[in-house]
Amino acid sequence: MKAIRFDRTGGPEVLKLEDIELPPPEAGQVRVKHAAIGVNFIDTYHRSGLYPVTLPSGLGLEAAGTIEAVGDNVSDLKLGDRVGYCTGPIGAYAEANNVPADRVVKLPDAISDEVAAASMLKGMTAQYLLKRTFPVQPGQTIVFHSAAGGVGLIACQWAAYLGATVIGTVGSDDKIELAKRNGCAHVLNTRSEDWPKQVRALTGGEGVPVVYDSVGKETWDGSLDCLAVRGMLVSFGNSSGAVPAFEPAILSAKGSLYLTRPTLFHYTRTRDELQQTADDLFAVIESGAVKISINQRFGLADARAAHEALHSRTTTGATVLLP
Ligand SMILES: NC(=O)c1ccc[n+]([C@@H]2O[C@H](COP(=O)([O-])OP(=O)(O)OC[C@H]3O[C@@H](n4cnc5c(N)ncnc54)[C@H](OP(=O)(O)O)[C@@H]3O)[C@@H](O)[C@H]2O)c1
Repeated sequence: MKAIRFDRTGGPEVLKLEDIELPPPEAGQVRVKHAAIGVNFIDTYHRSGLYPVTLPSGLGLEAAGTIEAVGDNVSDLKLGDRVGYCTGPIGAYAEANNVPADRVVKLPDAISDEVAAASMLKGMTAQYLLKRTFPVQPGQTIVFHSAAGGVGLIACQWAAYLGATVIGTVGSDDKIELAKRNGCAHVLNTRSEDWPKQVRALTGGEGVPVVYDSVGKETWDGSLDCLAVRGMLVSFGNSSGAVPAFEPAILSAKGSLYLTRPTLFHYTRTRDELQQTADDLFAVIESGAVKISINQRFGLADARAAHEALHSRTTTGATVLLP
């Protein structure tokens, strides 16, 4: 089968389409034939070496499609079931992947393969951030960075649906309207240096109880500056680079702040957590409260171009690869 592989870390140019042999699924695994593959920013960290992988390696954690082979000791899944997965194993940028059966979720009829591949990793992240890391309450004003991105478009709609007033941020003015149509009451451009002051102005000087920050290095200082006393910085990504080392005393100086650095994998550790998180996501999609925007589609062979697009900061919503 065709798969995207890389044998050294680096820029998008290290990604190569190869012919590989996929072994039969082991006991406890199923083979998923992919109809659509999710492209996520974490894939760029694996490719660049920011998050280490064993080389040579495949890439990608998320895809949806049909079960075409079932290993021993799998009882609740059968050939032909439509499923999705988003916590690996790494190797989703391929025509198929062998996945532990307990990391696979059956797709409801209303959720197409493309929507599943575009929304499971990003939307389940939005779910745990907004409902479990810092549970957003109606009436709260929150900051969500990269509001027009993959996680951002889903999370801002969901936060508004939960009753929050969302201040979204974007890296260019041409994304402002899109963010406003997807849950943001206010949209600030982080390329303008005074965006933390604008957050203060929008909150009567108080600041916000929570900032969800996936930009990392570039927004770290500003995010601390716009939090209310005893507010929480949820640092969940590094799109602009890893956050540099800092003195914990900065958290007291800025208002006895809380900091957490969560990851989806720790919020979907058990089968029950994974299923409940997926069910909650599928329910808000089916109800129409959250719409999934797939704004970039590439062939599997063009994974390099998909990564170049993500790095350009010009993509909006979700990106999928079609095998
Ligand atoms: N911890 C977790 O559980 C978890 C799970 C999923 C995703 N994430 C993180 O959430 C973030 C969003 O993921 P995604 O897949 O939905 O990606 P995305 O938001 O669609 O794309 C990344 C966005 O980051 C912003 N950005 C800021 N500085 C950048 C830079 N120097 N280069 C490129 N982009 C830059 C850009 O938006 P603007 O220019 O508009 O700001 C860009 O569109 C990523 O940081 C990802 O690692 C974390």
